[in-house]
Amino acid sequence: MAATILYGKEIAKDIREQLAGEVAELKQNGIVPGLTVVLVGDDPASHSYVRGKARGCEEVGIRSEIIYKDASITEKELLEIVYQLNENPNVHGILVQLPLPAHISEKAVIEAISSEKDVDGFHPVNVGNMMIGYDSLLPCTANGVVELIKRTGMTIEGKHAVVIGRSNIVGKPVSYLLQRENATVTMCHSRTVDLPSYTRQADILIVAAGKAHMIGKEDVKPGAVVIDVGVNRIESGKLVGDVRFDEVKEVASYLTPVPGGVGPMTITMLLKNTIEAARNLAR
Ligand code: GUN
Repeated sequence: MAATILYGKEIAKDIREQLAGEVAELKQNGIVPGLTVVLVGDDPASHSYVRGKARGCEEVGIRSEIIYKDASITEKELLEIVYQLNENPNVHGILVQLPLPAHISEKAVIEAISSEKDVDGFHPVNVGNMMIGYDSLLPCTANGVVELIKRTGMTIEGKHAVVIGRSNIVGKPVSYLLQRENATVTMCHSRTVDLPSYTRQADILIVAAGKAHMIGKEDVKPGAVVIDVGVNRIESGKLVGDVRFDEVKEVASYLTPVPGGVGPMTITMLLKNTIEAARNLAR
């Protein structure tokens, strides 16, 4: 039977309507949630992502601001901007778009952001709290993936989830969030020997390897929920995922498209984090 396609775009729209209500309520209490995005350099993909984030803010009523800086900015100057944003009471969320130019330490910048305003969920304090199950701002893509799985109505508890990719942004946090939902999680990565022997056991398969079309029908257990986090631009200029969509949709029970699957959920979780940060900071 063909898979049900999980259109993140539609689910994100639902959630954003709910978030708009939460923003309206905060505004009645005199709090206007604010997000500041810092973008260094002129990478076209980063510019496009950042515009999407600003549009998302506008949609739900969050005040947003983008600070554009030339790639020649020094690490010290960038850190100074972050420190000022940390002190600004109108700014509840700070996001420095990655990647940064090679002369700037991403670690130094992420650690400089106040953990209470770290709406990416990348600060070591937030990562640590997530790992041990304390409340924290959660990494947006990982949180969006789990939200999508929940929206299928499936019970995650007791399921075998296989995650391909061990990045700090997606693979690692998604594995912790799924363990929190009581799934049994197997981590696979570029050095895994005989990858299909693992993927074929997955009730939930999360593919975040960044390798176009690497997962085919033969790699998927019939009836599995397959979440494709990959975004790859192939030679023709087309954006494709890590999963061979047309093949896998014949065997999976649920499958996300690329684009229009996980992407819109990432931005929605960023909006959710900004609202949460505003609420926490007002306490
Ligand atoms: N670059 C690509 N994805 C992300 C993200 O989620 N957050 C930040 N800050 N930069 C990114």
